[in-house]
Amino acid sequence: MQSVAASDPAHFREVLSHFASGVVVVTAVVDGTPVGMTCQSFTSLSLDPPLVLFCPARTSTSWPVVQRADWFCLNVLSSEQHGLSNGFAKSGSDKFAGVSWTPTPHGAPALDGAAAHVEVRLAHVFDGGDHHIVTCHVESLQSAADSEPLLYYRSGYRSLQSLSQLV
Ligand SMILES: Cc1cc2nc3c(=O)[nH]c(=O)nc-3n(C[C@H](O)[C@H](O)[C@H](O)COP(=O)(O)O)c2cc1C
Repeated sequence: MQSVAASDPAHFREVLSHFASGVVVVTAVVDGTPVGMTCQSFTSLSLDPPLVLFCPARTSTSWPVVQRADWFCLNVLSSEQHGLSNGFAKSGSDKFAGVSWTPTPHGAPALDGAAAHVEVRLAHVFDGGDHHIVTCHVESLQSAADSEPLLYYRSGYRSLQSLSQLV
């Protein structure tokens, strides 16, 4: 295995793409309009107090809007939702066109068909280089008993069942 300096961005991306993760869509309603963005950089952080984190890029146009909301929903996507993942990653598009959702107890969009919904409110925003590190207090959460998660690995979508490329 050959080691290459971390200053090569393409190599940095390629090597770190070996870390498989799930995919969330961060959603909120701001001034009556639903907003959202796809994030792979999501993790459970603390049990007491209950905290999670995700990392939006400084270039994101959705994050500064989402940040204005009191409540967000972190939608853990299920294996058949790779289309939603791509849709919520397209800057400037009407991301909620044709997307069905149900309000969480505090009104954030819980995307129908997601594997889990985690309703949160903002705790802190830390510096993370060209990203922000956003920690959130978890207020309520629920999961669908029998759904398969959407996985992201080496720049492609996978499912747990086959570990095969979906798209
Ligand atoms: C599978 C996947 C994972 C992504 N993970 C992140 C992430 O963790 N952080 C991030 O800032 N952008 C991530 N993106 C890209 C953003 O979703 C995208 O740049 C953003 O939604 C652009 O739209 P905006 O300008 O409306 O924010 C990811 C995209 C995909 C397809």
